[in-house]
Amino acid sequence: MATARICVLYVVLSTTLAEDFKLKHKPSTKPVRLFTEEELTRYDGSEEGQPIYMAVKGVVFDVTKGKEFYGKDASYNALVGKDSTRAVAKMSLDPADLTSDTTGLTEEQLESLDSIFEGTYKAKYPIVGYTASRILTKDGSYNEAFKPEDQPHFQIKDEF
Ligand code: HEM
Repeated sequence: MATARICVLYVVLSTTLAEDFKLKHKPSTKPVRLFTEEELTRYDGSEEGQPIYMAVKGVVFDVTKGKEFYGKDASYNALVGKDSTRAVAKMSLDPADLTSDTTGLTEEQLESLDSIFEGTYKAKYPIVGYTASRILTKDGSYNEAFKPEDQPHFQIKDEF
């Protein structure tokens, strides 16, 4: 009798825990797209009617709705079709700053970068993917710490 009770308790507990696990482990809702530098250049606003993409800190944003800033001949067109992290951090359109390289940026510039990343890009534009610099480590292996900004429940094994 006691054994039967323990069995029932075990079944109930394991079912509850399994349900709990399912709820916590929500699979990601869409695949994580990896952009190469070459692919990103196709979305530089030069073709009318094509989406415009720009990466900041390795996150690729669809900035098409900001066409007045980023479209062909617009003031910030130089920033699109690439990862412009350094330019955004320094508020610079110097061609030398149109890169993802953050080497030597000051504390103030890094803080400014984070605030524009959160306050402008993440708040205003949809995320369409990531660049290799975010998903991969320097030796080309997967970055285990990678978490897509828009999929908090993402687990690396979901996609790779
Ligand atoms: C005289 C210099 C500049 C002036 C007067 C200026 C002015 C502005 C203004 C008024 C906005 C807000 C527009 C709006 O939300 O309606 C803006 C946004 C912005 N500016 Fe500038 N800007 C200048 C230089 C620069 C430079 C050098 C950069 C280089 C990265 C830059 C990057 C940006 C970015 C990324 C935005 C956000 C655009 C968005 O909402 O997607 N600005 N600027």
